Amino acid sequence: MRYTKINGTGHAVPPKVLTNDDLAKIVETNDEWISSRTGIKRRHISVTETTTDLAEQASLKALEASSVTIDDIDMVIVATVTPDHAFPGVSNLLQQRLNLKEIPTFDINAACSGFVYALNLADKLIKSEAYDHILIVGAETLTRLTDWSDRNTCVLFGDGAGAMVISKSEKPGIKDIIVGSRSDTEGHLICDSPDLKDPSVNKISQQDHIHMNGREVFKFATRVMPSTINQLLERNQLDKEDIDYVIAHQANKRIIEKASKDVDIPMDKMYVNIQNYGNTSAASVPIAIDEAIRKGHIKPGDTFVTVAFGGGFTYGGALINL
Ligand code: UT7
Repeated sequence: MRYTKINGTGHAVPPKVLTNDDLAKIVETNDEWISSRTGIKRRHISVTETTTDLAEQASLKALEASSVTIDDIDMVIVATVTPDHAFPGVSNLLQQRLNLKEIPTFDINAACSGFVYALNLADKLIKSEAYDHILIVGAETLTRLTDWSDRNTCVLFGDGAGAMVISKSEKPGIKDIIVGSRSDTEGHLICDSPDLKDPSVNKISQQDHIHMNGREVFKFATRVMPSTINQLLERNQLDKEDIDYVIAHQANKRIIEKASKDVDIPMDKMYVNIQNYGNTSAASVPIAIDEAIRKGHIKPGDTFVTVAFGGGFTYGGALINL
């Protein structure tokens, strides 16, 4: 039986920081509202950096932290909703930047759950023995899609990237993964593309923005996060005490607090870094995992659960032994 493991992580964010007070100069909001309703204090935003720039920086750190070299990587999967171009994919641009050999590279879009979807693919492909070492990345410049006049959404998002090298292993590391999707038939979380049937869009080139019914997304998130964690525990015959840490998608600190209460895992076991980054979509989970590892919150031998949800409505979770 072949197993898989995390073999190196890294993350990167653009240097420019936008605080809640900075945002209060742009829209009618204030630090008190944003902090108490979301937990966010600041976020990093790209000025010139592209999604590929951030993905490259995060990937180099993950490779450096791993036991493999660039030549050992035999596939790249990038989860993003904000690629630099419609094509080629960020993964393909990364191949050029990192000087990777001729290997399959592709992007996937499962919104904020994208990184867990990429992890699922990498895990299954390595277990099939077709590949040995896969570089997976969650990278976003979500603030490009942000409507800076909409206070309901513009206070929430930030930019960044997280990367992971997943490798074959003799011992079980990635133990179980759940991914799923529950149709968002009402379009509660959506970002339109230009209407291709209307030739006028080619002339006007209007930027499209994120539209969100926050309360409905909140309801979905607070249902699916606890149920995914509980399913992972049940089907692996584990108790909540067996879990050293939970690393959830950072969309709202209140969502994480509600999940902590519902699964009865205390908040000091729930990683929270939303105060520094806001919601970075597909980058949120790998940034949080890398930070938790580098800060020593998760140590070799520890068991942790990661869980995400997002547009679609997609969701995913993984049970991992580091
Ligand atoms: O990756 C997945 C993406 N999204 C999410 O996970 C989002 C999930 N949802 C949420 O996190 C929360 O629903 C929000 C943070 C988006 C909103 O929090 P809420 O407690 O659900 O607030 P609300 O939308 O019910 O709005 C309450 C009030 C409204 O005013 P009125 O109608 O009560 O007078 C809003 O207009 O707060 C107002 N408001 C704001 N006030 C100051 C909304 N945004 C702001 C703001 N600053 N930025």
